[in-house]
Amino acid sequence: MSQSKIENQKSKMSPASPATGLGFISTALSAPLSPAEAALRPLSFSDFTGQLKTVERLQVMVGAAKKRGEALNHILFSGPPGLGKTTLAFILGHELGKSVRVTSGPVIEKAGDLAGLLTSLEEGDILFIDEIHRIPKTVEEYLYSAMEDFRLDIMIDQGPNARSVRLSIPRFTLIGATTRSGLLTAPLRSRFTLQTRLDYYDHPTLEGIVRRSCGLLKVKIDDDGAKEIATRARGTPRVANNLINFVRDFAQERAKGIITQPVAAAALELLEIDAAGLDEMDKRMLRVMAENYGGKPVGMSTIAVAVGEEAETLEEVHEPFLIQEGYLQRTPQGRLLTAKGYAAVGLKPLGGDQGSLL
Ligand SMILES: Nc1ncnc2c1ncn2[C@@H]1O[C@H](COP(=O)(O)OP(=O)(O)O)[C@@H](O)[C@H]1O
Ligand SMILES: [Mg+2]
Repeated sequence: MSQSKIENQKSKMSPASPATGLGFISTALSAPLSPAEAALRPLSFSDFTGQLKTVERLQVMVGAAKKRGEALNHILFSGPPGLGKTTLAFILGHELGKSVRVTSGPVIEKAGDLAGLLTSLEEGDILFIDEIHRIPKTVEEYLYSAMEDFRLDIMIDQGPNARSVRLSIPRFTLIGATTRSGLLTAPLRSRFTLQTRLDYYDHPTLEGIVRRSCGLLKVKIDDDGAKEIATRARGTPRVANNLINFVRDFAQERAKGIITQPVAAAALELLEIDAAGLDEMDKRMLRVMAENYGGKPVGMSTIAVAVGEEAETLEEVHEPFLIQEGYLQRTPQGRLLTAKGYAAVGLKPLGGDQGSLL
């Protein structure tokens, strides 16, 4: 249940990619949070910008729970990686003055693991389960009674000695986070009082986040530099923070240490992140669809083989952004490239079935 076990699980999910070039975005979004990044994490609602609806819902719930002196109701955060799900879980702990215990779905292998976690909590504490869609089915069923009735009926021993033991657990709050809410079972989902989805951040909000991070890191940046990073950070604070790190190095080595618009643009070109925030992996996906499947719907596993990346990573990291920005569409037959998708790789749809050079 240690942090390193969580990190092992994470690194298993995505093959190691170089820190620059092809896999910059997926690496930034699937690598464990570095200490430097953790230092940029907002600690209270007043530090956390964007996600206005979600934040307001949370503030209402926190206010009410505090007044009644009760544990907060269970909450599910969904949305692509890097948008602030973990951050919000810690902010809730901070605002309530309660501890947050962190674990991850695949790390809880058996009911005993869950029992160990739950019995170590105190009244009102938060249990944060990241990647909750990956919790084993056998464990999931124990979670139901824990969430609803604050008890666990655990079988101990086997064969003729097998018996069930009832453990009562303190009233706690479960906060689940998932990048794939569609994979959650209905019974689990229905036990969360609030289910809230985080969206990609708009450019002005992201620009504010870039300025805040640069302030904390004591990095010199001007307004146009901040704007340039914000527009290329694909709506994701975690990507923005990772880009700042690289752009800062670039500014120090190739410019006068100050991040201006031309410096930011040149640094991001070097990372092969284009003006719209697409990286080489996004482009590869679009190119494969245009050139090999000209206009026809393609399954994600087919695309994954063609581009040499895991389907899971493409679905979690790349696809949501490509869909949100209108490069791809999801159809019952598979993923479909749009005219904007063709244009992004310098092609145009020919009669809707063949891509050709512009
Ligand atoms: N609203 C925000 N304002 C400022 N920084 C943010 C915000 N949301 C996320 N971040 C930054 O992005 C990083 C990743 O956020 P995190 O909560 O780990 O995302 P998730 O759990 O959704 O993958 C954090 O380290 C934090 O610094
Ligand atoms: Mg997280």
